[in-house]
Amino acid sequence: MARSGKVAVIGAGFYGSTTALRLAEYDIFETVVLTDVLEGKPEGLALDINQSRWIEGFETMVVGQTTGPNGEGYEAIAGSETVVITAGLPRKPGMSRMDLIETNAKIMRQVAENVKKFAPDAVVINVANPLDEMTALAQIVTDFPHHRVIGQAGMLDTARFTHFVAEDLDVPVSAVTTLTLGSHGDTMVPVASVCTVNGKPLGEMVSQERIDALVERTRNGGAEIVGLLKTGSAYYAPSAAAARMARAVHEDSGAVMPVCAWVQGEYGLSGAYLGVEAEIGRTGIRRIVETPLTDDEKALLVTAYEAVKAKQADVKDL
Ligand code: APR
Repeated sequence: MARSGKVAVIGAGFYGSTTALRLAEYDIFETVVLTDVLEGKPEGLALDINQSRWIEGFETMVVGQTTGPNGEGYEAIAGSETVVITAGLPRKPGMSRMDLIETNAKIMRQVAENVKKFAPDAVVINVANPLDEMTALAQIVTDFPHHRVIGQAGMLDTARFTHFVAEDLDVPVSAVTTLTLGSHGDTMVPVASVCTVNGKPLGEMVSQERIDALVERTRNGGAEIVGLLKTGSAYYAPSAAAARMARAVHEDSGAVMPVCAWVQGEYGLSGAYLGVEAEIGRTGIRRIVETPLTDDEKALLVTAYEAVKAKQADVKDL
């Protein structure tokens, strides 16, 4: 496939730089732009990634750009089809994602204003935490249609769940299908009814007690890594998820992925960013796919919706 288009990653920390690397290694984009407020950091990382092109065999060029407090440098993202926002502080041990809200909201406002100005037609994929709230804020500040502002969380939670099940049963990850919906946090909804191992229902392979333990580990999947790293949060699996979403936009693939999207009547829920399955394409969310849920799962999704809706109600004042 010929390389085309430009994708931008805002924030050249661990999450952003790994996302830029993955996007570049796909070798499907003409350009990957990587920005940060720390002078020289995005330029240095871009140079480093570009120097790996010969070894890894990709032609995509990464362009690093330092940005200033008044939007200086943002012209580099002009024409981007997708902007992945990773700018923001990560957690430290003992912190919840909500502890980041005020600091990251200030960063998000500044970033989103410039995305609106310099890449008005882009699809925005937010990954900054707290995820649901920062995604809602990105939409408010850009004033982009809701389908063009998406959050990354469900792909990651689902990937974590899949890994834990595969490891527990000692089977390849490719033999496992799982799904999580809801929020990226306490009200995450594991959809056990669609989970399978080699096509067999997970419930027939593992006791309910064991499933509950795997779900709990998934729910705390981010905190477990923060606790081990002590100085930051996860980025390999998160960047894999964000990069796949940007790829689905670029290829207009219609891939169905669990993402944080604006619900408008699906499951009887509306007016909030919630973890649901959706078809991703050039326009961002093409449509939300209503996964058949058991009554219990539906009740958990409603609980998650109520929690995220309440938290998103005050986001505009941040
Ligand atoms: N514009 C651009 N970049 C910014 C801005 C801003 N206004 N403010 C901060 N940054 C940059 C920092 O300079 C830093 O390089 O964001 C980067 C954050 O990088 P890390 O501290 O390494 O954090 P990371 O692990 O990448 O996480 C980023 O993703 O998972 C979430 O909770 C996490 O919100 C956090 C985000």
